[in-house]
Amino acid sequence: MNTKKPLKMALIGAGRIGSFHAETIARRLHNARLVAVADPAPGAARKLADSLDCELAYTDPQQVFADPDVDAVLIATPARFHTPLAVSAANAGKHVFCEKPMALTIAEAEAVIEAAARNQVQLQVGFNRRWDRAFSEGRAAIDAGRIGTPQLLRSLTRDPGPFNADPLKIPNWTIFYETLIHDFDTLLWLNAGAKPVEVYAVADALVRPDAKDSGHLDTAVVTIRFDNGAIAVAEANFCAMYGYDIRGEAFGSGGMVTMGDVKKSSLRLLDKDGESADTWRLDTHHFVEAYTLQIQHFVDTVLGNTAFAGPSGRDARSALAIALACIESVRSRQPVRISAIAEL
Ligand SMILES: NC(=O)c1ccc[n+]([C@@H]2O[C@H](COP(=O)([O-])OP(=O)(O)OC[C@H]3O[C@@H](n4cnc5c(N)ncnc54)[C@H](O)[C@@H]3O)[C@@H](O)[C@H]2O)c1
Repeated sequence: MNTKKPLKMALIGAGRIGSFHAETIARRLHNARLVAVADPAPGAARKLADSLDCELAYTDPQQVFADPDVDAVLIATPARFHTPLAVSAANAGKHVFCEKPMALTIAEAEAVIEAAARNQVQLQVGFNRRWDRAFSEGRAAIDAGRIGTPQLLRSLTRDPGPFNADPLKIPNWTIFYETLIHDFDTLLWLNAGAKPVEVYAVADALVRPDAKDSGHLDTAVVTIRFDNGAIAVAEANFCAMYGYDIRGEAFGSGGMVTMGDVKKSSLRLLDKDGESADTWRLDTHHFVEAYTLQIQHFVDTVLGNTAFAGPSGRDARSALAIALACIESVRSRQPVRISAIAEL
């Protein structure tokens, strides 16, 4: 592809994160243009497109797939639509950047991977933590042998409180499919080359116990055993009153590396109440750079300017296998072998 021409991208799903990604494509990327927005909600695509000087607004994603002027799509709809949209996009010859989770079943994940391969389009998944400076430097330190052999790994997601969402509108198992899936990808990526063998998960509705009977879960701890001996812990909670808290840690025979900080900056405020610091409150503030770098990587890969470094469809399938094992583990209250879910 001619690297002088920008990549023409369409956004599918103009909601909270889609709007942010559209702004990234339109304003923060090199060699990319936002050429269309699609969303079935009345007025949503038009409003976002107008705010970003983008001409085309569609109410049906099929219009994007039929548009020969679109090179690539970014899918940011609710999770259950990701697979059919990614497969249709690939079959239309569009490169695909898909928000997590790419799929909700292993068969769906394989359908996306197969469609991208058959149509020879790029497929990247939105595991943005890999693009955060602390996490990427942590991974580089592990690769360089600085912590020796990894033995204990940790990744956590605590979403910022207060928790104002209606738990009845959140699909069951979201904590595994959509929240902890980030942590599963992080742990797999930090422990590169190793395969997860067994998962044990406990989960509860500690933030909204009143919604537990409907299947709502907002708090979970997961242990993962890997085939290189390492043991990992992932945990999540939907309501951290002090901010958006994303952290990782890898401990090994020679040392330890920690990644991520809820503190927004090095600012310290000292007053009559003592010392305080600002904390992150929103993913779109914390991860501006990571969200931008991940889509820039997608663009650079499609334009042939750099080699693809992931996260790939296969990476998404592996993280999904852990999420599915967690769901089975919570249901059965037993450890679950990954081989019972998928061959990784
Ligand atoms: N990587 C991250 O850090 C991150 C952060 C937030 C959300 N996400 C993921 O992004 C996805 C979207 O999350 P959100 O919070 O923006 O959701 P949202 O509900 O705010 O937005 C979803 C949008 O998709 C539209 N939509 C629904 N069906 C559609 C279809 N078939 N075609 C096109 N548009 C359709 C809706 O009208 C809505 O505007 C989820 O999968 C979520 O897990 C990822």
